[in-house]
Amino acid sequence: MGRYTPGRADLEAALDRYRVLFDDIAADWDGFLDALLRPLPTCVWSNPLRLDGEGLAALIADESLPPGHAAPQPIGWRSDSALGMAFRLPPGFKAGQHWWYCAGLAHAQEEVSQLPVTLMDLAPGQRVLDLCAAPGGKTAQIALALGNRGTLLANDFSPERIAALQGNLDRLGIVNCSTTWCDGGNYPAAAGQFDRILVDAPCSSEGTLRRNRSLVVKLGEDRSERMLRRQRTLLRKALQLCRPGGRVVYSTCTFAPEENECIVAEALEAAGGRFRLLPIRVEGLTTSPGVTRWQGRTLDPSLARCLRLWPHVNDTGGFFVAVLEKEGAGDGITESGADIESQRGSQRGSQAGAVPVADLQPDVDDDRGLALLAEHYGLPERLWAQYRVHRQTRRGLHLAAADHLPPAVPKAQGSGLFFHRTNIRPPKLTTGGALLLGASATRRFIDVDADQRDAYLRRQPQTPNPAQVRDCRPGHVLVRYRGFVLGVAVLHRSGTLESLFPSRWSGCTAG
Ligand SMILES: C[S@@+](CC[C@H](N)C(=O)[O-])C[C@H]1O[C@@H](n2cnc3c(N)ncnc32)[C@H](O)[C@@H]1O
Repeated sequence: MGRYTPGRADLEAALDRYRVLFDDIAADWDGFLDALLRPLPTCVWSNPLRLDGEGLAALIADESLPPGHAAPQPIGWRSDSALGMAFRLPPGFKAGQHWWYCAGLAHAQEEVSQLPVTLMDLAPGQRVLDLCAAPGGKTAQIALALGNRGTLLANDFSPERIAALQGNLDRLGIVNCSTTWCDGGNYPAAAGQFDRILVDAPCSSEGTLRRNRSLVVKLGEDRSERMLRRQRTLLRKALQLCRPGGRVVYSTCTFAPEENECIVAEALEAAGGRFRLLPIRVEGLTTSPGVTRWQGRTLDPSLARCLRLWPHVNDTGGFFVAVLEKEGAGDGITESGADIESQRGSQRGSQAGAVPVADLQPDVDDDRGLALLAEHYGLPERLWAQYRVHRQTRRGLHLAAADHLPPAVPKAQGSGLFFHRTNIRPPKLTTGGALLLGASATRRFIDVDADQRDAYLRRQPQTPNPAQVRDCRPGHVLVRYRGFVLGVAVLHRSGTLESLFPSRWSGCTAG
């Protein structure tokens, strides 16, 4: 017997408790159910560290859409150039299987998932915590909004999901982020305070039904109930770690008011008036206000300042966002480790002091290894000035932004991007390292055609023609397509090119 696919009646039964909300705010109940039965458009954004939005749209139109298909149009409300340009693609479009994705030129992220970060009011120089970060779409957006500089901490409870997050950050060339593995509800106050904190909380995920309709059989009040304690502690911890004048953004992808407005209302109350909800308006998106009456409970009218996105209104998934601002002086936290303000978890005490920062240093022997690497690929001397090179494990070296200062506590799982593997002979630039530094390399490239590109990404050995390898000696080489580095290969004396593209890297399998 085939697997049962839940239909409209199942959706209606599972979500019936929300019907009352449609009288007030999102009138079209039938339109809502219809939208949930439609597949969700795919959405990608261009990586501004690698190319501009027009460049990505042209590549997609040229290489990845059927001939005659209209070029992808930018999503109007996502106009912040620091975050790249976002595009809608047809439902079912597998962005992760295209070469431009593997090369870190783009990232796939549901349209409404892109919203919370745009509401954080980010600017370079801020110290930021992403409390529930994996698999990292929003972390990457935050890192970019900070100009890929300074200090961003990305935390998650799940080590497997942190590994997926690190893979995404490495592919995109993010160097201003350290990952931590903690229960976010218990995040150590020793980490110091933050200018901005994102709590993209674990939730019952009803807003993702268009992507995963089978979820419908698990829905109901019980599912929400199980999430509440965790959501409560996560948001309360974020409020404790926020500096005066700073901002906490709370988001979920669920419709349940228990997990949304009610959690925010409780946290505001517990904070005793030190936080207020900011009104939100997003030019180009039709949004609904937060719910203020639910199951006999009346919430403070300011909860209407939260923002809801219903799937049928903008043809998206469902989402909820609240922006909370802390009272007090608006001075940012400086980037210097010596004077990062620490209030040790007390919102009243305001006892300033230095947050001890992690010691990110290379070994003495590493300098020689770096010089050999730079010599091999013809990397300019000045390149290193923007980074801190450090040895985190015996496997090799990491690169972090020069001003990246993770705290000593909690201990980071990883800081910056693992770029040079030194525990093998000869040492090797990682794929993340090649994507990051390859654009500055001046030698040892092989420019491949589309068939060779696909063979490279599938790890198939191949023999480039003599003209392609004219400028390369046997050894490690960078593989390029249309001027973009795809990764590292070994050119053997026999003329065979052996792909070193990681077999399980970010789901990239084909061109
Ligand atoms: C909605 S997802 C986050 C998605 C992510 N912000 C993004 O944009 O890719 C929620 C995450 O919270 C994590 N999580 C659940 N409980 C947690 C806790 N107590 N502390 C920290 N992270 C937690 C889950 O592992 C999951 O990765």
